[in-house]
Amino acid sequence: MSIEIPAGLTELLQSFTVEVLRNQPGDLLEFALQYFTKLKENQSKGAAFGHERNTAFRPSRGVNFADEPMQTDSEDGEDDEDEEEFTAPVINRFTRRVSVCAEAFNPDEDDDSEPRVIHPKTDEQRSRLQEACRDILLFKSLDPEQMSQVLDAMFEKLVKAGEHVIDQGDDGDNFYVIERGTYDIYVKCEGVGRCVGTYDNRGSFGELALMYNTPRAATIIATSPGALWGLDRATFRRIIVKNNAKKRRMYEAFIESLPFLKSLEPSERMKVVDVIGTKTYNDDEKIIAQGDKADCFYIVESGEVRITIKTKSKQDMEVNGAVEIARCSRGQYFGELALVTNKPRAASAYAVGHVKCLVMDVQAFERLLGPCMDIMKRNIATYEEQLVALFGTNMDISDPNA
Ligand code: CMP
Ligand code: CMP
Repeated sequence: MSIEIPAGLTELLQSFTVEVLRNQPGDLLEFALQYFTKLKENQSKGAAFGHERNTAFRPSRGVNFADEPMQTDSEDGEDDEDEEEFTAPVINRFTRRVSVCAEAFNPDEDDDSEPRVIHPKTDEQRSRLQEACRDILLFKSLDPEQMSQVLDAMFEKLVKAGEHVIDQGDDGDNFYVIERGTYDIYVKCEGVGRCVGTYDNRGSFGELALMYNTPRAATIIATSPGALWGLDRATFRRIIVKNNAKKRRMYEAFIESLPFLKSLEPSERMKVVDVIGTKTYNDDEKIIAQGDKADCFYIVESGEVRITIKTKSKQDMEVNGAVEIARCSRGQYFGELALVTNKPRAASAYAVGHVKCLVMDVQAFERLLGPCMDIMKRNIATYEEQLVALFGTNMDISDPNA
């Protein structure tokens, strides 16, 4: 059964709920009456929908509200003297935040008292959302309750080709998961925007400004019509950033110990921990398939990974099948070659026993692991030697034009 939710209902009820929780009115009905009357008045004046400022609703005196007086806009020094005491809330969820205060964030603080953001969804929407979020690395270490709160808070956003979803330098409002569509990533270097990568119908972006309270680090432009799922800043910080603190505690020592990351500064290594997700595999499960398009890099946390390769010749494949060429154990990495050479996967990878890997997407790999490239390229040279020894040819693994 699918029930159609009228446009704006969720935001309307959500804004009202936020104001109730903020003001704690004694007489809820009276408060509701004032709130919606004021909203309607403001809407008639054209001020409610699409209003750029997100100011709080203040009930008129006489209604019982929280003891602590709320700061009014005029106290901010931003407002006209004669502007009305209350301003209707912003209902448009895509309105960008005008400014970001670098809110102090204590990840261990229990801020569960904050109102939960919920965007109701049809069964069909929820199943599309779940599918889009299945491989999102930042969601991988959430527990089921956290994941369910994230899914509840996400909202659908359709985009047109050419639309700027994010502009570099802006404040961060939402994190986005891609359901469909292609997107270019532009980063300005000395004032000139350069396309540094693309998203092709999968992945996510917009986490950096929310994690580190920094301006947007890149511009994201849709290159086809697309669909995204947004997660608001407050929910992202309450759940994902809090979970990152736990991840840091769990993986800091392990990441510090990895020789191939030794060229990174300690703060850069922490950024690696922030963006990794964990994936587990059962015995013999395929982790990478030779010939596939690549979008991830893997570090073995536990268990062992078998790397196998098939030769190009069909006859060889039928006769010989795949040949085991390497094993990776705790602390070793694989899956970098295709990301470095921009070619399909050169080999397959299978779990030997139960395996747990730390996984990083290609965008984070390129953004964060540049300083480790020398070490990785030296290893790639040994792959070539190994292949020559095995097959009498290097099978062109590092030639991007082959
Ligand atoms: P954020 O800075 O919030 O907004 C822009 C997003 O682009 C950023 O988060 C990342 O998710 C994404 N991105 C992808 N590649 C890069 C890159 N090379 N540099 C910066 N941001 C990038
Ligand atoms: P990639 O090509 O992305 O996916 C398969 C991975 O297997 C590859 O990256 C390397 O990380 C790993 N590998 C290990 N040994 C070899 C080898 N001799 N040739 C190619 N890939 C290898």
